[in-house]
Amino acid sequence: MPESHIPAEPVGPPDVRRVLVIGASGQLGRELARTLQAWPEPIQVLTASRSEPDADRRVALEHPETLERVIAAVRPAHVILAAAATNVTWCEEHPTGSHIINVVGTAAAARAANRIGANLAFLSTDYVFDGSTGPYPESAATRPINIYGAHKLAAEEAVLAENPGNLVVRTCQVFGDDPRRTNFVMRVIDSLRRGETVEAAGDLYGTPTYAPDLALVLANLVLAAASGVWHVAGPTFLSRYELAHMAAAAFGCDRESIVEVTADQMNDPVDRPRRAGLLGVRLEAAGSGRMTPLADALQALATGDARA
Ligand SMILES: NC(=O)c1ccc[n+]([C@@H]2O[C@H](COP(=O)([O-])OP(=O)(O)OC[C@H]3O[C@@H](n4cnc5c(N)ncnc54)[C@H](OP(=O)(O)O)[C@@H]3O)[C@@H](O)[C@H]2O)c1
Repeated sequence: MPESHIPAEPVGPPDVRRVLVIGASGQLGRELARTLQAWPEPIQVLTASRSEPDADRRVALEHPETLERVIAAVRPAHVILAAAATNVTWCEEHPTGSHIINVVGTAAAARAANRIGANLAFLSTDYVFDGSTGPYPESAATRPINIYGAHKLAAEEAVLAENPGNLVVRTCQVFGDDPRRTNFVMRVIDSLRRGETVEAAGDLYGTPTYAPDLALVLANLVLAAASGVWHVAGPTFLSRYELAHMAAAAFGCDRESIVEVTADQMNDPVDRPRRAGLLGVRLEAAGSGRMTPLADALQALATGDARA
């Protein structure tokens, strides 16, 4: 069903077939809106974002009234919050700004959704863990070691405290055909294509997640009104160095220019969990944990990129 405009006035009780995606200009929000708009059953998908030219659909997490206005006007049954301050280095260097956007803003979105009787789905991260024993199941104890992880965990808690029927989906190292090309895979490929040397940490492990897989699973969870914490991540646990190699192979780039370093050698102001990554234990138990094998996902991305 095509995207439609936000009604100027509230239109009665939340519509069970209406979904609002906040952060639709981002890598995941865009993919999610695309997935929902192609849904086989009739659902109405509305989008809002910070860079939206239409003022009625523009939101800023640091201005809660914008969230309240859009959510109250749309009256969806489900709000998916894919907007966040996602630059981990920026969060580390701007802890107050990160708190206002990622914790206070998220809590405001959950409150605004609850006020109209809608559920909120929130995107979180494997950075809520310390990286000593990953990949982590949903039952593992959290212990963030950087500001981004600490604030995403605080936001999770606020979302579930507001309404236990809300959904928290933790994911990891998302990659897809993001037009901004800021994900790790596309940054590696773009650097290799420019003939640059790429340094990739051999001791930073995760479970890279293909954006279309994540969007599909998330949409299914939302429409099934799933609640609580779910892990949704790719099936392969590997280092960034290994991922850079696999990506280069899929895109036909020269692998000689990829240099293995340690996280400590990277001059990174952020302490990152070394062995992070996620296990989708709840999805597996529900029989819906199938994710595209990593090599196939990278190949699909490379094929799409060559066509673009
Ligand atoms: N990407 C990953 O590897 C990864 C891993 C784990 C969890 N996550 C989580 O997944 C979610 C989506 O991530 P993503 O990869 O799609 O991120 P992204 O591509 O960086 O997109 C971020 C989105 O948030 C919006 N945004 C940023 N600051 C905002 C603010 N102050 N007010 C309102 N909107 C704001 C951006 O809007 P504009 O672009 O319009 O400014 C954009 O729509 C986030 O919650 C992130 O923490 C991502």
